[in-house]
Amino acid sequence: MPTILQELPSDLDQDRLPRHVAVIMDGNGRWAKRKGLPRIMGHRQGVDALKGLLRCCNDWGIQALTAYAFSTENWGRPHEEVDFLMTLFERVLVRELQEMMKENVRIQFVGNLADLPRSLQEQIERSMQETKNNRGIQFTVATNYGGRQEILHAARAIATQVQQGHLQPDEIDEALFSRHLYTANVCDPDLLIRTSGEMRLSNFLLWQMAYAELYITDALWPDFDRVQFHQALSAYQQRDRRFGKV
Ligand code: FPP
Repeated sequence: MPTILQELPSDLDQDRLPRHVAVIMDGNGRWAKRKGLPRIMGHRQGVDALKGLLRCCNDWGIQALTAYAFSTENWGRPHEEVDFLMTLFERVLVRELQEMMKENVRIQFVGNLADLPRSLQEQIERSMQETKNNRGIQFTVATNYGGRQEILHAARAIATQVQQGHLQPDEIDEALFSRHLYTANVCDPDLLIRTSGEMRLSNFLLWQMAYAELYITDALWPDFDRVQFHQALSAYQQRDRRFGKV
């Protein structure tokens, strides 16, 4: 059956949509607990919520979506949960690649990918290669990602260039620094959505989020759907973005 493109709700202004939306998908464990299910069922359901959001962003003409799938701190979770998540990422990538091609999605992964299981790295590489010429939404998945680590990684690369004499210290400006981040190919997020009511950035896109509008909802991630996203966009369009000016 062909996928039907969902139109932008008429109360939203197409010209004032965020170009880039970032999401912290929190509350999978609590969602499962409330239903008397094991935590992993929350993550499984979370994948469906993410797929729904990706399709919605694509349909409504949002250029980029970045999702925080696994932080550098998440290794501290019980072994079984970490193993489950790694296997889940891999399975989803294999299962959804065709769909992403059909919907013209360009996927990339950011973070310290070298520490992920070998078979997951291979699927990541494959999905990035196969979708790299797609011209629809840029979908970025932050996996084994930490914002401070990303900034250090950029600082080291720049320091090396200075040391080798390719760059002068006074040539280091914001634009140059941004080009050394994992997200060099996407604009900074305009809107950050975090579910389950937590008021934290949790080491996510620290540099890039300097002027992002924050939208926190009490909804748990697996319950975050098109209606919730519509509400987030309505709230965003009511904000007055001044970027430090009056
Ligand atoms: C936070 O909820 C969620 C995670 C750490 C995992 C998020 C991952 C997915 C939804 C899968 C995405 C899949 C792909 C392929 C990108 P939590 O476990 O911290 O919830 P809690 O705070 O209620 O315990």
